[in-house]
This record gives sequence, C-alpha cells and structure tokens, in this order.
Amino acid sequence: MKGMTVANKTVTITDNESGKSWTYPKMSGSTGPDVVDIRKFYADTGMFTFDPGFTSTGSCESKITYIDGDKGVLLHRGYAIEELAENCNFEEVAYLMLNGELPNEAQKDKFEHDLTYHTMLHEQVHSFYSGFRRDAHPMAVMCGAVGALSAFYHDSLDINNPEHRKIASYRLIAKIPTIAAWAFKYSIGQPFMYPRNDLGYAENFLHMMYATPCEDYQVNPILAKAMDRILILHADHEQNASTSTVRLAGSSGANPFACIAAGIASLWGPAHGGANEAVLNMLKEIGSKDKIGEFVKRAKDKNDTFRLMGFGHRVYKNYDPRARIMSRTCHEVLVELGIKDNALLDIAMELERIALEDDYFIQKKLYPNVDFYSGIIFQAMGIPVTMFTPLFALARTTGWIAQWNEMIEDPQNKIGRPRQLYTGQTVRKYVPLKKRK
Ligand code: CMC
Repeated sequence: MKGMTVANKTVTITDNESGKSWTYPKMSGSTGPDVVDIRKFYADTGMFTFDPGFTSTGSCESKITYIDGDKGVLLHRGYAIEELAENCNFEEVAYLMLNGELPNEAQKDKFEHDLTYHTMLHEQVHSFYSGFRRDAHPMAVMCGAVGALSAFYHDSLDINNPEHRKIASYRLIAKIPTIAAWAFKYSIGQPFMYPRNDLGYAENFLHMMYATPCEDYQVNPILAKAMDRILILHADHEQNASTSTVRLAGSSGANPFACIAAGIASLWGPAHGGANEAVLNMLKEIGSKDKIGEFVKRAKDKNDTFRLMGFGHRVYKNYDPRARIMSRTCHEVLVELGIKDNALLDIAMELERIALEDDYFIQKKLYPNVDFYSGIIFQAMGIPVTMFTPLFALARTTGWIAQWNEMIEDPQNKIGRPRQLYTGQTVRKYVPLKKRK
C-alpha cells in the first residue's frame, strides 16, 4: 500500500501571534503512528519546522523495515527478526530486503549464484590498498575502497537504468565481505585471500579473513552459523543515521558506490555502529565486576561525558529484540567453542543486571541494544576489535542498498534539503584587512 491520506483526519496548527490557522492532512501507514503531511507548511505559513536530530520527522515512505520501539518489535517486510534469524540464511534475508518476498528454492539458488559471481574485486583494487598505512582503521580503508569502486565499475553507474542499479546492488553486497576481509589482511601484513565460489556468504567471509595460501583452512561451521545470524541481525534498521545518510547522498543522484561509502562513514561513529567496538573497550576498562558501580555512577553523572556503551536507543524504549538474540547466540557460541570462563561476558551480564535495576536507566527506558553483546561474540570468534564496526557495515550494506533502490524508484523522491534556524550575524559592512582589529 501507499501512505494514505484519510479525508477526515487532519491536524490544525494555530499561530497565536497572528491568529491564523492552517490544516494539514494526516497520513496512515499499514501500521505505526500516523504522520502529518507538512510538505506545504512553508509555502502556506512562511515558517519552517524545527527538529534537530529528526526526533519527530518521517523523511520517507518505506516498505522495508518496521520497528515498534515501545514493544521491542522489529519486522523486515513483515517478518519478525526472531523468525528470520532462526530460519533463514543471510542471502535469503538480503533477497527479502531487495525484492519484498522471501525467495523460493530456485530464486534462492539463482540469487546465491549471482552474488557469488560478483565477489571478486577488480585486480587493480589491490594496489589501492597499499596506499593506506598498515595501522589504518579498517573502517577508513572501507570508506576509501568502497568509494573507489565507482572508478572501476563504469557499467553500473546510471541510476536511472534498472539493470545498472541491479548490477551495482549485487556488486556492493557481494564485494563488501572481500573489501572488509582484505582491510584486515592488509592490517596484519598477510596476503589477500580470493573469494571461493563453493562457500556461502558468511563462510566465504571467514575464509577470506583467516585462510592463508600456505595451508588448507576449514571454516568452523559453528562460527559460520553464528556469523550468518549476526549478519541477519544487522541487515537493516529503517531510517537510522547511516541509512538516512545513504538516502540523502543518493537523493542528489550520486552513484550507489559513493552513497554506500557515505553510509560507512556515518556508521563509524560510536553513537551508531562504532558502539560495538566501544562496548568491548568499555568492558575491558571496567575490568572487574567490583568496578561496575563506579562506571554506572559515571554514566548517570550529567557532568561526565561517559555513557554506558551498548545501552539506549532512539527508537527502542524496551529491550532491543536483536540484543536478546545476540545475547542467546553469545552463550551458544561460547558453549560450542568450549569457552567456560569469559570475564568480559561476566562483566557484561552483571552490568546489564545492575543497569536494568537502576532507577536512572528504568526512568529513561535505557535497555541493552544490538551492540551490547555482539563484541563479546566477535572476540570469542577471534575477530579483532577494529573489525567489529566493519562487520556491521558489511551486514548493513544490504539494508542500505535496499533503501537506496526504494528511494530511486519512489516518484516522491526529491533532493534532501533541510532548512535551518539562522542565529548568526545579519548583514554588516565589509571591513578591509588593514582596518580589522
Ligand atoms: N548511558 C547513560 N545515559 C544515557 C545513555 C547511555 N548509554 N543513552 C542515553 N542516555 C540518557 C541521556 O543522557 C539522556 O538523558 P537526559 O534526558 O537527562 O538528557 C537520555 O538518556 C536520552 O538520551 P539521548 O542522547 O537524548 O537519546 P538519543 O535518542 O538522542 O540517543 C543513543 C540514542 C543510542 C545515541 C544513546 O542512547 C547513546 O549514546 N547510547 C550509547 C551508544 C550506543 O550504544 N549506540 C548504539 C545504538 S544501537 C545500534 C546502532 O544504531 O548503531
């Protein structure tokens, strides 16, 4: 369905200064809160709306992901994240994101085949890597390498051509594991491993991360299964900062490789995808259970910039459903790997218990989010801390691409161009250099 305007549903805004009133239609989606259509607001009133951080603003219509933050519900194309994580592989979820329906067997085989045959990078991308310092953060390398793809794949840059869009989408989803794994290989000075066509998406990524040309490497099926689930949990999350960045970049007509590079840059921050790395660093800094109280106190102190990383969310005012699955997966992985004692997990669980019983966190409805447990699993899987956020970027590329395609196909799409409340100097006379104080 399209967002619908309902005849008798309107909102009237009154300017108490002039006494004038204006009426705006309300639009209803298939579920979730109604929105007020204020597209004519400026033309009617000569005023803008003011909403820093977009806490009350819907920027687009979308059919991909739905979140009910109060109930802790996450649906992709109508399917609950719990069911997708339990029953699908990542490729099926990627197909669902892109096409709106889960694939049948033939569609799944074809999609996996098509992705597989786009996993290699242009050979010259190799030399692109050597321009980076070895100690560059893999997210820095990913921003650069993904942005550079537009210089290599000129045959998929026409955003108005559906076939170009499709090839670019497949290329990005298929090549991003290669790009991420190579960023890691480069950082430790090992040779790049080429993708293998006989492996699934998650398995192939682990192969490119850990295999070397010197000996056979068998991907541990437990780790491959866990990685697949983690990728599903991160695949999309409606109009978050990085997705909105991708849409905003794309609204100007920029090519998809450039848009995804912008999304990676936005994801990197610690308030967003960078939180998984920050959680692990925080747990290490806490160091032992007896120090938890001290850190919780700091998180509550208005004069301290410290926050409990992996806690809180703009939309969820309940337990993030992804965190619940992540926590369960974390325990399963540790059991399957025979890891009995994990000091960081013990600290995390105790921190969660203390925070969830604390008035500050209860009142502000701050619950663990997806990043709270993911770092502990990644660490148990032997993934270095600096690769945590690249893994998030790898998984989220699917969501970004699905959202980018949806935007391009949307007839309502316009260049994103917010306005502002200007509080700077008004017009003043130019002062020549020699006369300035
Ligand atoms: N620790 C302590 N206090 C917090 C925390 C936290 N983690 N998160 C929010 N608060 C407080 C905040 O100080 C504010 O208090 P007050 O109303 O007294 O000023 C109140 O809760 C509301 O916070 P906000 O910053 O206005 O909320 P927001 O919706 O703008 O921010 C957030 C959401 C996720 C950026 C924030 O909760 C945060 O910084 N969390 C830690 C970083 C993190 O875990 N990020 C991952 C998010 S989930 C995955 C993803 O999106 O990538």
